[in-house]
Amino acid sequence: MEIKLYTSGIEQCRAALLAVPVFEDSRNIPGKLEFLAASVISSVTDIFRKSGFEAKFNQKILLHTQNDSFPLVACLGAGKVNEWDLEKSRQWWGNAAGAVKSIKADNLAIYWDSTLPAPGDSIYYMSEMVAALITADYRVSDFMTEKDDLPASLRTVFILYPGGGEDLDSRIVAGERLGNSVNLARRLAETPSNLMTPARFADEVKSLSERYGWHPEILEKHELEENNFGALLAVARGSENPPVLAIARYQHPEARKTLALVGKGVTFDSGGISIKPSRSMEEMKYDMCGAAAVLGALQAISLTGLPVNAVAAMPLVENMPSGKAVRPGDVVKSFSGKTIEIINTDAEGRLILADTLSYVEKNYKPDYIIDIATLTGAVVVTLGNLAAAVFSGDPNLLETLKEASGLSGEKIWELPLWDEYRESLKSKIADIRNVSAKPGAGSITAAMFLKSFVEATAWAHLDIAGTAYGMPEKSYRPEGATGFGVRLLWYLADLLSAA
Ligand code: BES
Ligand code: MN
Ligand code: ZN
Repeated sequence: MEIKLYTSGIEQCRAALLAVPVFEDSRNIPGKLEFLAASVISSVTDIFRKSGFEAKFNQKILLHTQNDSFPLVACLGAGKVNEWDLEKSRQWWGNAAGAVKSIKADNLAIYWDSTLPAPGDSIYYMSEMVAALITADYRVSDFMTEKDDLPASLRTVFILYPGGGEDLDSRIVAGERLGNSVNLARRLAETPSNLMTPARFADEVKSLSERYGWHPEILEKHELEENNFGALLAVARGSENPPVLAIARYQHPEARKTLALVGKGVTFDSGGISIKPSRSMEEMKYDMCGAAAVLGALQAISLTGLPVNAVAAMPLVENMPSGKAVRPGDVVKSFSGKTIEIINTDAEGRLILADTLSYVEKNYKPDYIIDIATLTGAVVVTLGNLAAAVFSGDPNLLETLKEASGLSGEKIWELPLWDEYRESLKSKIADIRNVSAKPGAGSITAAMFLKSFVEATAWAHLDIAGTAYGMPEKSYRPEGATGFGVRLLWYLADLLSAA
């Protein structure tokens, strides 16, 4: 999609559809568009009244005009001015993308100007609106041989913003880059596990590293063996597809902080010998959404040139049962040297993350480590498909994450890391067991397990099992993989780099 900005001469633009915000307060199109009113078959207010259009949020009306530039005007309800916020902005721009889909055109003009409300005086709102447009427009390509005749995606979007605004160009570009990075994560996640193997995911990391000049470190199976990644290798043992630890580093000359992002990359989670029930097992292709989120975030950080050093580490494995698979009761030695009794082979995410957390802390010496993982079904019981759980012992990092969450609209909710929860992870024969001996608090005990593999670095853990997919659909977030975490982590990097 190409985005073109008009800050003057908007009458000269031509588009199949012009999307215009109409607020309940005025129930009229913005003043600068009055030249259109004369070409509308009947007066705008008349049509609104006759068709019962009250400009309620999500309401929409299509006006035919005799204007050559804008033959069709979609008046999209924006609700009340004082209820306008970032989330409404995202939804409204998603609605604009939806409106053009319904007329099967590949180009769209969107009207905005500085007299319209800027939510919460956020400097980010223009980026958020554009990112929403990009994610709303994108459909992950499917494998159907019979295609419908809908245009695959918008070719051109004109933003008509008379007078312009501060940094408008760069905000639009940032929004585009954010949106495209969310779409990258969605594409990786939607690709089925027979195609998105650990090797294939690592290829994506390699080619993006080349494209953006990142420093890649790809640890193949034999290197993982030489470096004693005993926990990660135990998970990979049952699969014909060898594991890879893919790491990419972005550096900025003015960076003062290094942020490490660790994402769970289980390309398929059958459960292993502790095999899962077949119901919904196909959804376990999404068990690499953490890895997809950190790669998307790294791309967004890099494309927007944030003054921060960022490392994305993605342990990539497939969790399968076989004659070679790790068994319940096996004891393995992790990269850290700690021994782990594997009680349940389906608690594999924490095993691959444990080794990766230790390795990243030791070799990259970051100031912060954030891991993000579809880690526990229990988090869906706790928070449903609305919010991710966040865990951290570092109050500053937690605060910054919450701020990033507010800006991105990617909701997070804190759960505790109390020492008492560590009791149930005690093993009779090893340093730790991989699942709690007691029922309950499954997300917390998983987080406690991870915590014991981070020595001294400020660390936070995000459990996205409920938000990586299966969230309620929105105009800017079609069903399936959501790319949750990409924008949250980008805002986190942005806030940390400014601090
Ligand atoms: N990948 C799953 C967690 C998951 C479940 C993600 C449902 C998305 C939807 C994880 O590897 C897992 O299997 N966790 C187990 C842990 C248990 C064995 C302690 C779980 O949640 O049941
Ligand atoms: Mn599992
Ligand atoms: Zn898993």
